[in-house]
Amino acid sequence: MQTVHTVTALRDTLGPLRSAGKRIAFVPTMGNLHDGHLQLVRQARHLAQHVIVSIFVNPLQFNDKQDFSAYPVTLAEDVCKLAENDVDILFHPGMEQIYPQGMEQSTRVEVPGLSDILCGHYRPGHFVGVTTVVARLFNIVQPDVAVFGEKDYQQLAIIRRMVADLCFPIDIASVATVRESDGLAMSSRNRYLSQEERSCAAQLYRTLQAARDHILQGDTDYRQVETTAMAALDKAGFRTEYVAIRHADDLRDAAAGERHLILLAAAWLGKTRLIDNLLIEKH
Ligand code: PAJ
Repeated sequence: MQTVHTVTALRDTLGPLRSAGKRIAFVPTMGNLHDGHLQLVRQARHLAQHVIVSIFVNPLQFNDKQDFSAYPVTLAEDVCKLAENDVDILFHPGMEQIYPQGMEQSTRVEVPGLSDILCGHYRPGHFVGVTTVVARLFNIVQPDVAVFGEKDYQQLAIIRRMVADLCFPIDIASVATVRESDGLAMSSRNRYLSQEERSCAAQLYRTLQAARDHILQGDTDYRQVETTAMAALDKAGFRTEYVAIRHADDLRDAAAGERHLILLAAAWLGKTRLIDNLLIEKH
């Protein structure tokens, strides 16, 4: 695996591959890689002849400075995992490569509406940071296909919208959430959980499963299902931000007859914010 630090070096490496007609798959990450990230890499391998992974902890998407400075950096381990998974190129740029004018002065990309609801409501500015860096990375790498996790369902929906709106010639592929054996969605932030919090954390997934079962059994009072799930989480020790039942395509409020639903939740355990979601296909 080759590690590249600058836009110029990446262009020099990718130019000949592109001219030779090789299909390029791209997986953007912030590092501290776990099996969820690696599942994206494996999917990318199926989709193209060349796989590029980026590691860039993007300060623009952290609405909380403390969260940014505490974000785990494990580059040596990440490099081993990527090499073991047959990645061709690691793009690991410095700040000056991504924000040459400085972060505050750089052009931003915003998907209004979708970025302001759910997690966007609780983390103002977060999704503008995400779309800005992903648009930049797309223009730098110019992949044929980019792979994202369904774990960050709202992020995936926003990126799909951005790609459609801005006519990026890039296919967006998604990978189902990879979970620990007790159901907790893998996340770089899980390492912040104390032992006691960790043993409670899978309750988030179990609560979503219970809510999904209710809906599949015919309960169409979605507001009541949301309220019951939030109360169950609070009782289990979470500080719940939201549980929401939405239309799976565009996250609009779901009416009773809707069949393609997504159940999303965000909740704090101590100082750690967890998110999770479940798709619901009603027949
Ligand atoms: P990061 O949190 O590092 O996640 C990188 C990718 O891995 C995202 O597409 C995310 O959805 C996916 N992922 C994380 N945990 C997963 C899991 N348990 N199962 C499946 N996929 C999982 O998301 C970001 O970085 C950033 O916002 C980024 C898109 C890189 C822009 O900075």
